[in-house]
Amino acid sequence: MSRNVTPKRRTIHSSIVRLTHWINAAAMFVMVTSGWQIYNAHPILDFKFPAWMTLGGWLAGAIAWHFAAMWVLAINLLVYIVYGLVSGHFRRDLLPITPAGLWRDIKAALTFRLPHALGHYNAIQKLLYAGVIALIVLAVLSGLAIWKPVQLQELTWLMGGFDNARVVHFIAMAGIVGFFLVHILLVIIVPRTLPPMITGGRVADAEATP
Ligand code: HEM
Repeated sequence: MSRNVTPKRRTIHSSIVRLTHWINAAAMFVMVTSGWQIYNAHPILDFKFPAWMTLGGWLAGAIAWHFAAMWVLAINLLVYIVYGLVSGHFRRDLLPITPAGLWRDIKAALTFRLPHALGHYNAIQKLLYAGVIALIVLAVLSGLAIWKPVQLQELTWLMGGFDNARVVHFIAMAGIVGFFLVHILLVIIVPRTLPPMITGGRVADAEATP
């Protein structure tokens, strides 16, 4: 005799994850494009970013954008990290990241057999997400070291001095932009992941387990 059991359903992305994700994406857009304008005023490498890719019009305008979005980015990041730790979201959804799991999923991806169950991140996604969170923390810390090199001299020292903090800040930015390009490509390849990041989505508990 078969019993009619309704599968338990859960939200794929909690409202806090969704809210902080989109606030982060908007703040990051402003930070990166205004940052490129600030960089252009005193480049550390042998190139400048094209003006159309930058925000702010000129150095002071870009700094105003950068400092305004900085608070949004940093407070939002803090909310996301505290929520991730306290709610168990990081432990449950982003960890563990093991070499064996990564190797298994890299092999699966290379043979186009990497499964994508909504509500469950594969090892490559976990690594990319944990990596970009670490890069955003690094970008904020190196940014603070450049912003207040006297008041936060210990932090500036940890970054290897003011000039080196600029290089660290640039490398963090380049990593975040690199992540962004791969991230968008993956959303284009698996577009059904996008609606749940907007609405929360619902998935049967069984579906969530690979
Ligand atoms: C710099 C900008 C961005 C960063 C740093 C970022 C970072 C992240 C992170 C860390 C997650 C995992 C969230 C968690 O579960 O805690 C995530 C998920 C996701 N992001 Fe982004 N994101 C960015 C921009 C975008 C944009 C512009 C889009 C859409 C066009 C997007 C679409 C998604 C989707 C659909 C997921 C869920 C993937 C899945 O369920 O498999 N992201 N993002």
